[in-house]
Amino acid sequence: MRIIVVNNYEEMSRKAADMMASQVILKPDSVLGLATGSTPLGMYKELVDRYEKEGLDFSKVTTFNLDEYYGITRENTQSYYYYMRNNLFKHINIDLQKTNIPNGSAESIEKECEEYEERIKKAGGIDIQVLGIGSNGHIGFNEPDINFEAETHLVNLDEETIKANSRFFNSKEDVPVKAISMGIKTIMQSKKIILLANGEGKAEAIYETVKGKINPNTPASILQLHNDVTIILDKNAASKIQ
Ligand code: F6R
Repeated sequence: MRIIVVNNYEEMSRKAADMMASQVILKPDSVLGLATGSTPLGMYKELVDRYEKEGLDFSKVTTFNLDEYYGITRENTQSYYYYMRNNLFKHINIDLQKTNIPNGSAESIEKECEEYEERIKKAGGIDIQVLGIGSNGHIGFNEPDINFEAETHLVNLDEETIKANSRFFNSKEDVPVKAISMGIKTIMQSKKIILLANGEGKAEAIYETVKGKINPNTPASILQLHNDVTIILDKNAASKIQ
């Protein structure tokens, strides 16, 4: 694991954008694995900036998102589909046909999950996967006690995740209790991984991920076994490992 500690959120976002931009420049038809939530918002803003000012070209890129809430339509402003459109896709020259997000309102979730895995394989696998981390150590929506062998599947969200994500909803009761998520196996098959974390609230999860034993209670701890992981942390998220 390569660990980079920076001063603040802006630096973390710039570093992550540097890595994504070099991936796209070196391999214009890269397959990018993307995350949602608060953490990568600054990185997406940076990437939009580089598209606008430097002409960073996304026209050949394919993307796969980590997850989507279950039972939510794409039009719903809380969907990750909506998030990706508004925070990245509509601002860059990406071909929307090449963007992939699990369909949380698919008729058959099982089929949706199988097809999602197939689409990733057909695209040649993920070149670089961006991850955030939950304060409980989840990556994607692979919650504590996860089966490390899982591929894309329907998950029950942890009480801690529902509470954390309620900040985006009117009330806690409005947060979906299930989601479709790439599994740990899917994530671990990515060629490169970047994990981003900022803020004190992530310090304990980062400590367990980096220094703890590999165990299903901290799903992110499995990343210790991946051979190309870069963890970019602000000072606060790194406070327990320094
Ligand atoms: C989002 C995702 C989650 C988040 C994590 C952190 O697609 O898969 O694992 O990365 O919950 O969320 P934030 O960044 O909002 O703290």
